[in-house]
Amino acid sequence: MALFERLPDRVHVYEVSPRDGLQNESATVPTHGKARMIDALVGAGIQQLEVTSFVSPKWIPQLADAEEVIQLTQPLERRDQGIHFSALCPNMRGLDRAISTGIGTIAVFVSASESHNKKNVNKTVDETLAVFEQVVPAARKQGLRVRGYVSTVWGCPYEGEIPVRQAIAVASRLMELGCYQVSLGDTIGVGTPVQTLQIINAFLQEFEADTIAMHMHDTRGTALSNVLVGLDRGIRTFDASIGGVGGCPYAPGAAGNLATEDLVYTLEGMGVETGIDLGKLWEAGRVAEALVGHRLPGKVHQAGILSLAQ
Ligand code: HMG
Ligand code: MG
Repeated sequence: MALFERLPDRVHVYEVSPRDGLQNESATVPTHGKARMIDALVGAGIQQLEVTSFVSPKWIPQLADAEEVIQLTQPLERRDQGIHFSALCPNMRGLDRAISTGIGTIAVFVSASESHNKKNVNKTVDETLAVFEQVVPAARKQGLRVRGYVSTVWGCPYEGEIPVRQAIAVASRLMELGCYQVSLGDTIGVGTPVQTLQIINAFLQEFEADTIAMHMHDTRGTALSNVLVGLDRGIRTFDASIGGVGGCPYAPGAAGNLATEDLVYTLEGMGVETGIDLGKLWEAGRVAEALVGHRLPGKVHQAGILSLAQ
């Protein structure tokens, strides 16, 4: 079958910059600035947005203001209009905090590799899944949706390549617990297209395509190529970060996620709708750049979009 023979009309862009992006900035963005960034992203048409984390402020001080961020932005989470906000949640304490804010979705996270998981949450993979055995049903009982992440699917900074069956086993546990979708993470951006084809094909033998998302960090400039492989295979949700801001504090050398503008530019150019206004998205990138106080790496962000019209 030819490449891109069956392109979808529409895909979902899952914006993670206020969480994945800002958790890795050395300077903490003030709470009102975070709210401004979230407002600009929603204004550009982003419908799924990870706004913060209910993790330990000792581990991630940049997101210690999670409750305040949600308090300021909650009116923008119009679930009746398909706009969903999420926040990372590592344990029952995180769930209690999430419930107190009224947010509609939490995201639980675990690595395919033991050493990254231990560095990230100070627990083995099995211990982490045991915590989520409590958290996920409790969250669903309260009416929250739960998303899952599996990190280091394409490779671990401490263990190298990880057998795909290990990632599938972890993802299966998250699905069984009640996650509506599992996002597969290339945490350190090592993936390449043929490897991606093998990983996605292996996952699609076990799961429906719409229960899988891709969360690619762009450390080596391969995130977009890998996403296009996933698109061709039927994946319809892609995580991205405005301007490419971000990384993972417990994965040395990890860079930001695939830049949202690069993803939207490419998809719309292929005739695949995202529901996002690229001009407004580019403006949101300018807001984010001003807040973090340094140049963001996204290509479309840097090229600008005005030049397209000339
Ligand atoms: P710990 O130190 O093993 O456990 O941390 P603890 O229970 O002793 O907690 C330490 C302190 O934090 C205690 O405070 C707790 O009360 C408090 P103290 O008694 O010392 O004053 N605490 C909390 N405070 C607020 N909210 C909570 C909470 N839980 C405990 N929910 C823990 C274990 C899991 C808490 C910690 O390791 C942690 O927070 N880790 C999060 C690390 C993180 O956020 N990493 C980045 C996100 S993952 C990622 O980026 C990958 C992803 O993007 C996908 C990909 O790219 O592949 C998702
Ligand atoms: Mg990430």
